[in-house]
Amino acid sequence: MRLAFLGPPGAGKGTQAELFARRYGFAHISTGEILRDGVRGGTPLGSKARGYMDGGELVPDEIVVGIVAEKLEGIDGGFVLDGFPRTVEQAEALNGILRGRNGSLDAVIYFDVDEDTVVRRLSGRRVCGKCGWNYHVENMPPKREGVCDRCGGEVHQRDDDRPEVVRERLRVYQRETAPLIDYYKRKGLLERVAGDPPPEEVQEEVRRLFADRLGSRR
Ligand code: AP5
Repeated sequence: MRLAFLGPPGAGKGTQAELFARRYGFAHISTGEILRDGVRGGTPLGSKARGYMDGGELVPDEIVVGIVAEKLEGIDGGFVLDGFPRTVEQAEALNGILRGRNGSLDAVIYFDVDEDTVVRRLSGRRVCGKCGWNYHVENMPPKREGVCDRCGGEVHQRDDDRPEVVRERLRVYQRETAPLIDYYKRKGLLERVAGDPPPEEVQEEVRRLFADRLGSRR
């Protein structure tokens, strides 16, 4: 299956994409994660992207589209795009890339979460700088403060989770990304899932949507 996960910052796209892709053996392509790897590794991609990300802005379409095109080239089976596309231009470019491979998206899952929830999630989120695992200061703190349970790496706040940057990310989401909800609705591809329940319940809902097609693989 070829899926894209859509929703505001903090909607749970990454959490759900990871669970879903791992369960069904699909590739998980997170543009945010690829860009953050670039920043951490000080690569040319990272230095181009850093300023945009720290300010809560989108990285230019041509850079992100290039990343996704390259990733998709190496993938034969199903995939979940997490955080891409984020503009109508990116969506059009993705159509072109998939058409070139005689394919198209099967569905776009929109995780619907209200703004207060998103702000609460992001302001309390902490991530491991080494393995990227997510924590939350209230709901899911690491056992030892500041230390990753999984790899012992240092757990810190993402630069773009500071309150002023979160506000900008939400503004950018409304302006650039929210129009994709109608865009995919018109194409008959949009599936809305409530993103407020606990992660396992949200995941169950996503699986239910595709039970017919994935039933035998459960
Ligand atoms: P990206 O990393 O994609 O950030 P985002 O979309 O803002 O998404 P988040 O990672 O903040 O949230 P999420 O929806 O994945 O939620 P998560 O599962 O992590 O992008 C970062 C930056 O990179 C962008 O601002 C931009 O600059 C650039 N970029 C990336 N893609 C781009 C593109 N296509 N075009 C241009 N620029 C691009 O969960 C969030 C928190 O909530 C976690 O702590 C988690 O544990 C918790 N949580 C998750 N689900 C639940 C739940 N159901 N209940 C309670 N807590 C939950």
